[in-house]
Amino acid sequence: MIILRTVAELRDAVGAARREGKRIGLVPTMGAFHQGHLSLVQRARARCAFVVVTLFVNPTQFNESADLARYPRDETGDAKLVESVGADVLFAPSVEEVYPRAYTTTVEVAPLAEPLEGIVRGTQHFKGVATVVTKLLNMAQPDEAFFGQKDAQQALIIRRLVRDLDFPVRIEVCPTVREPDGLAMSSRNMLLDDESRRRAPALSRALFAVSDAVARGETDTEVAMATGRSVLADAGIEPEYFAAVSAETLASVNVIEGETLVAIAARFGSVRLIDNVIVGAGSAS
Ligand code: PAF
Repeated sequence: MIILRTVAELRDAVGAARREGKRIGLVPTMGAFHQGHLSLVQRARARCAFVVVTLFVNPTQFNESADLARYPRDETGDAKLVESVGADVLFAPSVEEVYPRAYTTTVEVAPLAEPLEGIVRGTQHFKGVATVVTKLLNMAQPDEAFFGQKDAQQALIIRRLVRDLDFPVRIEVCPTVREPDGLAMSSRNMLLDDESRRRAPALSRALFAVSDAVARGETDTEVAMATGRSVLADAGIEPEYFAAVSAETLASVNVIEGETLVAIAARFGSVRLIDNVIVGAGSAS
């Protein structure tokens, strides 16, 4: 595996692979790899002969400078991990390489950016995500790109921008990888203190309670969500949001009929965690 820093180097490497007839897979990340990231790389490896993993802690998507400052960074450890699962390139550009002087252009995917995370973090967050993903897709020009379902709203926004802007790329959203106690894997989990780490699995237990209620035939959103809310109350967790919305439009739903995204965000001290499940017709989880 090679580590590349500039767009020109990346284009050369991808161009050479393409001339050899290889299918190009892209896994955009912010590093601090855990099994969730590695599963994306493994999936990319299974489908594509040339796999590029990007490692860029994108400053424009952080709404709190403290969150950006303490976001875990370990490029050496990350490089070893992604190499072990078969990445061909780790693309780790500088901030200046991605946002050169007088950088001005942004990509906005309203109204999908407004609810849930948009309410708590502001619409700037997804502007930052949509802009950097657009840039990474243009830099690497992959045939396929892989994202995690844990960031469900982000995945929906990326699917929409790729469709709206005619990117010739197939987007695959891969299942959330969980710890044995159900906690969704996240680079932020390592920032939890012991007490918070003990309480955090209540987020997934609350989601699974809703999912079980729907599987038993409950279609009234209020009734189904109440089962999850009682799990949260027992764990002493007041979520920032705990919502059932259309998995396609993110509009609130009163009745669970089609695919419904049940999403949660909560703070444990200064660490913010998110998780979700899809329930309802044809759902996989
Ligand atoms: O999900 C992430 O790690 C980031 O939001 C992404 C997609 C790499 C953009 O910075």
